[in-house]
Amino acid sequence: MEIKTAEIRVKELHQLLNQYGYEYHVLDQPSVPDAEYDRLLQELSQLEEKFPVLRTPDSPTQRVGGQPLGTFSKVEHLSPMLSLSNAFNEADLRDFDRRIKQTIGEDYEYVCELKIDGLAVSLRYENGLFVQGATRGDGTVGEDITANLKTIRSIPLRLKDAYSLEVRGEAYMPKHSFLKLNERRKLAEEPLFANPRNAAAGSLRQLDPRIAASRNLDIFLYAVADFGEIGVSTHSEGMQLLEELGFKMNKEREVCSNIEQVISYVEKWEKDRPTLPYEIDGIVIKVNSLEQQQLLGATAKSPRWSIAYKFPAEEVLTRLIDITFNVGRTGVVTPTALLEPVQVAGTTVQRASLHNEDFIREKGMMIGDEVVIKKAGDIIPEVVNVLPERRTGEEKPFSMPTACPECESELVRIEEEVALRCINPKCPAQIREGLIHFVSRNAMNIEGLGEKVIAQLYHHNLVHDVADLYQLTKEQLLQLERMGEKSVSNLLAAIEASKSNSLEKLLFGLGIRHVGVKAAKILAEEFETIDKLAAAAKEDLLSIHEIGEKMADSIVTFFQKAEVHELIQELKAANVNVEYKGLRRKQVETESIFTGKTVVLTGKLETMTRNEAKEKIEMLGGNVTGSVSKNTDIVIAGIDAGSKLTKAQQLGIEIWDEQKLQEMLKDE
Ligand code: IVH
Repeated sequence: MEIKTAEIRVKELHQLLNQYGYEYHVLDQPSVPDAEYDRLLQELSQLEEKFPVLRTPDSPTQRVGGQPLGTFSKVEHLSPMLSLSNAFNEADLRDFDRRIKQTIGEDYEYVCELKIDGLAVSLRYENGLFVQGATRGDGTVGEDITANLKTIRSIPLRLKDAYSLEVRGEAYMPKHSFLKLNERRKLAEEPLFANPRNAAAGSLRQLDPRIAASRNLDIFLYAVADFGEIGVSTHSEGMQLLEELGFKMNKEREVCSNIEQVISYVEKWEKDRPTLPYEIDGIVIKVNSLEQQQLLGATAKSPRWSIAYKFPAEEVLTRLIDITFNVGRTGVVTPTALLEPVQVAGTTVQRASLHNEDFIREKGMMIGDEVVIKKAGDIIPEVVNVLPERRTGEEKPFSMPTACPECESELVRIEEEVALRCINPKCPAQIREGLIHFVSRNAMNIEGLGEKVIAQLYHHNLVHDVADLYQLTKEQLLQLERMGEKSVSNLLAAIEASKSNSLEKLLFGLGIRHVGVKAAKILAEEFETIDKLAAAAKEDLLSIHEIGEKMADSIVTFFQKAEVHELIQELKAANVNVEYKGLRRKQVETESIFTGKTVVLTGKLETMTRNEAKEKIEMLGGNVTGSVSKNTDIVIAGIDAGSKLTKAQQLGIEIWDEQKLQEMLKDE
């Protein structure tokens, strides 16, 4: 066969296979027998074998297989993937409704959706082609799991229209696939997955896409990163458009005109939940109008226009065997319940935090008591109740320790606090916990340094403070248990990569009391370098709107310590970045060439990501949107700019190349 003829047939096969695949996996209405699909796929695969140039990334043959990856690379999301705040009962829902009314008045609609219990993923399409898929990660940066996502048949590799957009949804494992998978694993004597969510997450985190391909995952889409890109005015229109583009959308979505209707929807699904072929853990409620969503805005963590109603947790009975005590990063001693193991919401529970002494006293808990436990938010085990009427007389009273269970120094109760604290700064438990915090996702985000590895590093005298992490060598790491060549080189690479983090990650990681993720970001923006922050007086800190008395005191005290200065010197010597890499907030206040301008970015940029460009332009007062219209002021065209550039030329809109953008950003 000649290549010309082959090319025509390959196109036909793409079209047929895409159509059959869509009917089967998205619409759930197959029109041909499976064998026919397999025959056509086989034919396509043979043609591609013969004429490799005809094998395109959106070919239906490109879903399975693929070579295993070494590691997942990082992906920056177009806009942060936020999470939602929770409602646990009707009163919480009514409170939410009241808050909405306060901001936008009486004229609004909600959309109710099922809260699919899987994991959030983001899919990027460029000119209609699926180019990249990522996990949520820390919300800003996730991991590139494109190869695994391609194995999900309901994810279109090419859209019905050549849109460029980033869509979000929940990848999940249907109940029957989960049961089948665990049956197979049981036969193979492999460990079982606790629930479909863990199974889905585990499958998408496999470096070998063939494993994900065998797991029968699915997806529902529920959001678009930048709705501006697709020119709709409500969430439901957006969802409708995604459906038209070929995405799999959940059919149970419903528009409600008031909170009563929302409550009925919630009640219906609380009852009917077992009839669904996939697991849900609640209902998501969203304000429908995108304009109103914007008006309501978001906190650092979650949008104010949406809330997740969580179904009540399953409660079970078990016995409190003992209470142990753990020392945290700040020296707080936390009692933990050791429980007779029980199954709750899909996992075995044998421990639960008891928070503090008062919590135990209020519940009147005794060792040996029967207790009711549940998983809060279906994740964290919690003791709900004690059943004193079921005592046998064998139960023993409980008492808090007077000395630190780790270093034996005397514990103190600080005024106005319920917690008992170990105030020995050299306490090994505090040091270990501090290290765990330093490497955690919102801090320096060093993957591969779990609790166990840290405990070993400390135990072998290899690490005493966070700066020591940057002195670790391959030889040292190879001595640790279960650390092979590969995990060592991955870990060293992750440590190396963390050196270039922006200042806010380091600040949060240092664990200054009262300084959370948000405050760390604000401090980094305001002071730009760790030295300037370290030199700041209390008044300087208090002049920042978001910084209060308690935090200011804590920051000043922290930077007064000689050992902190030493630590900073060591970090600098190890080349750890101590500067803020984002843009300063104040710049927005001054006029710039971008002030009030509507800008569209198209094509690939060479010196920065589109997201970085967007951020910079917005910091300078510009508004970056996704589609070109007569309201667009400037189009910035990178490499391979396509239809947007043509449209801009037709409309006579000012067009810049990347160099011009660079110059303009520099001028500002
Ligand atoms: S909307 C900014 N809709 O629940 C809004 N989330 O904390 C983004 N989820 O991380 C979320 N079903 O993984 C939305 N229909 C739905 C959802 C849904 C499941 C997950 C999602 C998110 C978490 C909320």
